[in-house]
Amino acid sequence: MLTTLTKALADANKKNYAVGAFNVNNMEICQAVIRAAEKLKSPVIIQTSEGAIAYAGIKYLKAITEVAAQTSAIPTVLHLDHGRDMNIVKDCIRLGWTGIMYDGSHLSFEKNVKNTLKVVKLAERKEIGVEGELGTIGGAEDIVSARQILYTQPEAAKEFVEKTGVDALAIAIGTSHGAYKFKGKAKLDIKLLAEIKKKVKIPLVLHGASGVPAAVVAKAQKYGAKLGKPEGVPDSQIKEAIKNGINKINTDTDLRLAFDAAVREVIATKPEVFDPRKILGPAREFIQKIVEHRIKLFGSVGRG
Ligand code: G3H
Ligand code: 13P
Ligand code: ZN
Repeated sequence: MLTTLTKALADANKKNYAVGAFNVNNMEICQAVIRAAEKLKSPVIIQTSEGAIAYAGIKYLKAITEVAAQTSAIPTVLHLDHGRDMNIVKDCIRLGWTGIMYDGSHLSFEKNVKNTLKVVKLAERKEIGVEGELGTIGGAEDIVSARQILYTQPEAAKEFVEKTGVDALAIAIGTSHGAYKFKGKAKLDIKLLAEIKKKVKIPLVLHGASGVPAAVVAKAQKYGAKLGKPEGVPDSQIKEAIKNGINKINTDTDLRLAFDAAVREVIATKPEVFDPRKILGPAREFIQKIVEHRIKLFGSVGRG
């Protein structure tokens, strides 16, 4: 069942849990996410980045994600992740996405406010929710370019929310995208998060939140992956973040690692296999397990 970002996060904010937002790029990943959410009766956010849209095509992604939402009984949001290109933002709104992130974090405060406000106005017409971003989350992905972490300042967050009217705010409290998040000990600035939440009552969003589970990394490495020393956000810190006001948690890297590990295992242990279904099927199952673990961690089981 399709729902909006605003509705899904309002309940999470009121009851102090987080809704998982999982990045999907193809059918198998999308099915893994929706199957996990259905099994645990949890609301879920299926999100597509601009990179995913460039890879799969916007109409393919719309069709795949729409089938997932419409054939499932649980509240499902179709969300644009890190939208920067106004044409893509407009296309997603027109085609039926029910949540839009406008990422103006690379711009000046004033320009970020101006562009985000424009997106809020466009989204209002369809009554869908908008996530803004203030501060910069570190790391590099496909289209989200490499950058330093600039922590979100509480006063600026308050002003940003008042001026734009966003429904949710992504904040920078020490996480970064990708598999290499921390040089030393993993540390989120929970005190800063609590200060932001005091001033900003709307749902807050944690990006770069993958746990990079050691068992998944070990499995990928056992079958030939060369990953060096990846480091994710420990589950204990995710729990602290939720207690202090995070209501949407983004996960992409953990799904990529699970996909990689499972595909490698089949290729390495069953060299006679060349049927794509026998290669991608186990990856879908493994991703589902990872998503189930995340949903339990986020406290959203049974809320769907
Ligand atoms: O935040 C970034 C997400 O992991 C999406 O990454 O731009 O490579 O699809 P992508
Ligand atoms: P990870 O790289 O930690 O999975 O973060 C994903 C993300 O923030 C997508 O917007
Ligand atoms: Zn992100």
